[in-house]
Amino acid sequence: MKHIFKKGKSLNGPTLLLLHGTGGTENDLLGLAEIIDPDANILSVRGNVLENGMPRFFKRLAEGVFDEEDLILRTKELYEFIDESAEEYGFDRNYVVAVGYSNGANIAGSLLFHYQDALNAAILHHPMVPRRGIELPDLAGVKVFLTAGHNDPICPEQESIDLERILTENGAMAEIHWENNGHQLTRSEVEAASEWYQQNI
Ligand code: MLT
Repeated sequence: MKHIFKKGKSLNGPTLLLLHGTGGTENDLLGLAEIIDPDANILSVRGNVLENGMPRFFKRLAEGVFDEEDLILRTKELYEFIDESAEEYGFDRNYVVAVGYSNGANIAGSLLFHYQDALNAAILHHPMVPRRGIELPDLAGVKVFLTAGHNDPICPEQESIDLERILTENGAMAEIHWENNGHQLTRSEVEAASEWYQQNI
């Protein structure tokens, strides 16, 4: 997968897995990583799917309606890519913290829904429930910070509420930070994520 890897202070420290929103690239969230943890290793990945020229992490049938078959396949592809990257660059595979926005948050959520040991923690900006009606792995010890907008037209607030509940029911420690700025990724929610990170990671 097209990506950027940057070694931080220590390969044994956390690695931020950066996952952009629809139409983004692996460059988009680098500034955000700088705010969250300037010392972390960075693995920033570009989604392999193109929708009218816009990179995404999996196909969708319509806005908010995911192509489940593709979601499953792409989740596996990303999971394996993290494994391979840990081998290649030498970072700690068990200390990967996803930071995703919108479509990137949704594939990060999907990693949690499908693989027990995919992520140590995740910051999900404006996520949705990636799949419903499936059994999740045991997520004990996994920490998740969600940010959501009460008035987000793309990710309705119920999606974040359901996602927090499903993650918690399966053992994760999840919490939501709410804003009122639609689907925008705001400076204040990044700062809230950064504060959460300092306390939890
Ligand atoms: C998705 O397709 O993952 C969500 O609708 C968010 C987005 O617009 O990317």
